[in-house]
Amino acid sequence: MSLDELYRRVILDHYQKPRNWGRLDDDAVTVDLNNPTCGDRISLQMRIEDGKVADARFTGEGCSISLASASMMTEAIKGKSIDEALALADAFSRLMQRQDVGDIDLGDLEALQGVSKFPARIKCALLAWKAMQQGLRHAGQPAKE
Ligand code: FES
Ligand code: FES
Repeated sequence: MSLDELYRRVILDHYQKPRNWGRLDDDAVTVDLNNPTCGDRISLQMRIEDGKVADARFTGEGCSISLASASMMTEAIKGKSIDEALALADAFSRLMQRQDVGDIDLGDLEALQGVSKFPARIKCALLAWKAMQQGLRHAGQPAKE
């Protein structure tokens, strides 16, 4: 299978069957974010326990790339520490910009590197990741920030 074909299949699969779709309890870390260029939006929730992402769910409206990326992101961060999840976000955003990701293993997320060929779509792929970064940066800090 070519990389382009893999890219299309992975996006279609996660778009049609988004993993971790839904809501957690109201006390979960919740971030609602929209993509200002198109108005699409994501609502991400994460349950943090012992400094780790114990669970993550999302809902929203968006294009296939944004929903597939959100689905894959929630799979990738479950069980990770806050620092590991933030490092993954950093590496994913480098992948989108065609920069060196260092020694971070992106696993299945590599399949999304095809997005980097379409600069206008990079924001779509990064929407859920930005929501995750915002939520985790706050989660690691005192509530009054
Ligand atoms: Fe709106 Fe992709 S077109 S998130
Ligand atoms: Fe947004 Fe702290 S990360 S105010």
